[in-house]
Formats: sequence, structure tokens, C-alpha cells
Amino acid sequence: MKAMTLQPPIGLDRLMLQDRADPGVPGAGEIRVALHGSSLNFHDLGVATGRTPTADGRIPLADGAGVVEAVGSGVAEFAVGDQVVSCFFPDWQDGAPTVGDFARTPGDGIDGFAQDYVVLPATAFTHAPRDYDAVEAATITTAGLTAWRALIVDGKLKAGDTVLLLGTGGVSIWALQLATLMGATVAITSSSGEKLERARGMGADFTLNYRDQPGWGRAVRDWTGGRGVDHVVEVGGPGTLAQSIEAVRVGGHISLIGVLTGGAGEVPTAALMGRQARLQGLIVGSRREQQDMVRALDASGIRPVIDRRFALDQLADAFRYEMSGGHFGKIGIEW
Ligand SMILES: NC(=O)c1ccc[n+]([C@@H]2O[C@H](COP(=O)([O-])OP(=O)(O)OC[C@H]3O[C@@H](n4cnc5c(N)ncnc54)[C@H](OP(=O)(O)O)[C@@H]3O)[C@@H](O)[C@H]2O)c1
Repeated sequence: MKAMTLQPPIGLDRLMLQDRADPGVPGAGEIRVALHGSSLNFHDLGVATGRTPTADGRIPLADGAGVVEAVGSGVAEFAVGDQVVSCFFPDWQDGAPTVGDFARTPGDGIDGFAQDYVVLPATAFTHAPRDYDAVEAATITTAGLTAWRALIVDGKLKAGDTVLLLGTGGVSIWALQLATLMGATVAITSSSGEKLERARGMGADFTLNYRDQPGWGRAVRDWTGGRGVDHVVEVGGPGTLAQSIEAVRVGGHISLIGVLTGGAGEVPTAALMGRQARLQGLIVGSRREQQDMVRALDASGIRPVIDRRFALDQLADAFRYEMSGGHFGKIGIEW
């Protein structure tokens, strides 16, 4: 079978399609999945470019979706032919977070899904949302579930809430779809007027260009009549957090998710204290939360926004496209 691998010295030019041994038949508690789709995340880009160290020969990509080809003994949840999607944390099944690193995350600490077949514990997958193709399903593993957890699980978002989203990448566009589905009102930023127009077409109420308006926190606050937003999905990190604190309401909630502007920096602690806001770090979510999200998607009929699709052997080009920042929503990989 074919697998895309990262050869040393790791970089996009060292992504190579190789023959690997077929994983064989599933043992007790395992399923064999024929993979057909994945999607790119900022995290995968870090691994593929060598920014995030990984093992030589690693098979990249955290997201994976496909069809169950065989089930091992004792597996009752899945049957041959089921469409399934992978879990970002294969060992975090339910309850409070139990993992604080990427040691067991596919495509980072262990091999990922840029390959034809895997045999893994059934508990490393959930059913895919109904009628989603493999690329669409794969977008929930990382970006979709992160947006779901930030807004629904940790944020306890309700109809009428106001939400601030930063940029128009995979997490933010999933968050836009979930927030509008739940009856919230959304402000979103972007570096592109064209992308802001597109976000308005998807239901965003207030849009602004973060390059043209560096003081966007105050502008978002003004949009709420001075009250501030209930939730911020903070994908920027140190370069955006001060503006997010400016934008949040007293007693509001900031989900600290991203590192787009770096991994460390100054936090205006007094301003955060004054807001009495909850600043919560999070990494994706549990398998139970993914099952809850799939149920919600089955009931809602919304589908993820796939900006472009690339073949598996064009993976390096797909990452280069992600680096260019041209995308809106998710970049899909299919095979
Ligand atoms: N903690 C977690 O569980 C978790 C899960 C998923 C992702 N993340 C993190 O969340 C971030 C986004 O991930 P992603 O996969 O959605 O990335 P992505 O799809 O590659 O999105 C990148 C987009 O972010 C926007 N952006 C870049 N710099 C920005 C800035 N200074 N201010 C506002 N927006 C900016 C740009 O949007 P425009 O083109 O519209 O300007 C860009 O297209 C990354 O840092 C990633 O590591 C964390």
C-alpha cells in the first residue's frame, strides 16, 4: 500500500510517496479502515515543514476518514461499509481532558492518515457525519471539533450570544457555521475584503480587516454597543490576545486555541482581570465530544467549506497553498 512519508531532513520537498506493508487484518477491538480523505491543519503544516519536530519517516496528517473494511472480534459499534472519521486524541475517550501534548496524536507523535489503510482500535474513530464524503468528514477531527469544543462544550453558547472569530481559516469558518447554526451573532476578521464578503454571505454580521484596523478589539466592542462579545475563538495567540481582551465582555469567555502569531508573548493581565473574563486554553476534544458533534451535524445539514482539494501525491503543493494564506475554510486531500 502507498503512504506519504516525511524523510530527513524534514521539509515539504522531503514528502515522499512510499510503499509500506499492508496493516493486515484487525485483531480484537480493532477495525481496518480504507482511508480516502484528510484535511490540512496549521498543526500538520508545522510537522511537515520541520517546525514541530517529529520522527524521520513519519506518516503525516492528523485527520483521516474512510470506510470500514473489516472489524475485529468484540467490535459492536462499527460494521463493514461504515463511513468513519479519526479522533485527534485516540486515547481520550470521555470526560475532563487527560492529554496535554501530541505524543499520541496521529501525524505527529504517531503515524497519521496520509496512507491507504490502517488497522487501529475502534475507539480511535467515530462514525462520520451522514452523507459527508471522506474529505468533508475528515475536517471534523481537528478544526471542527476544536470549534465545537470552544463554543458549545466550554463556551456553553446559546442563541443570542455574540461571537468573535479571527481570520477565515479552518477553525474559524467551522466556528462561523456552528455559531450561526446555534443562533449566535458573529463578528469575524480577515486580511482579505473578498473573504470578508464571503463570510457575510455565510451569516457573519460584522466584518473587519485586521490589517487595515489594528485596533479591531475596540471596533468589535463598539459593534456590540459597548458591551463586548460573549465568546472569542482566539486562534491568533500573542499578537491578537490583547485585542481579543479589548473585545470581550465583562464575564465573557476567550478560548485560547492558536499560535498563528507565535507561541509566547505579553498578556495584558490587568485588562483581563478587569474584564473578569475566562481565558481557557484547549486542545481539540474527546471522542465523546466528537460523537456529540456528529449527532449535531446529522441533525443540522450543514457541510464544511472545502476551499480546494488536492490528490495525496500533491500533498506538498497543498501545504504550499496553505502557507500562501489563499484559502477560506479547509483544504482537502483525497485519494
Ligand atoms: N488548540 C487546538 O486545539 C487547535 C486546533 C486547531 C487549530 N489550532 C490552531 O489554530 C490556529 C488556526 O488553525 P487553522 O488550522 O484554522 O489554520 P489555517 O486554516 O491555516 O488558517 C490560517 C488563517 O488564519 C488567519 N490569520 C493568520 N494570521 C492572523 C492574524 N494575525 N490575525 C487573524 N487571523 C490570522 C488567516 O486568515 P485570513 O486569510 O482571513 O486573514 C489565515 O488564512 C493555528 O494556530 C492552529 O495551530 C489549535
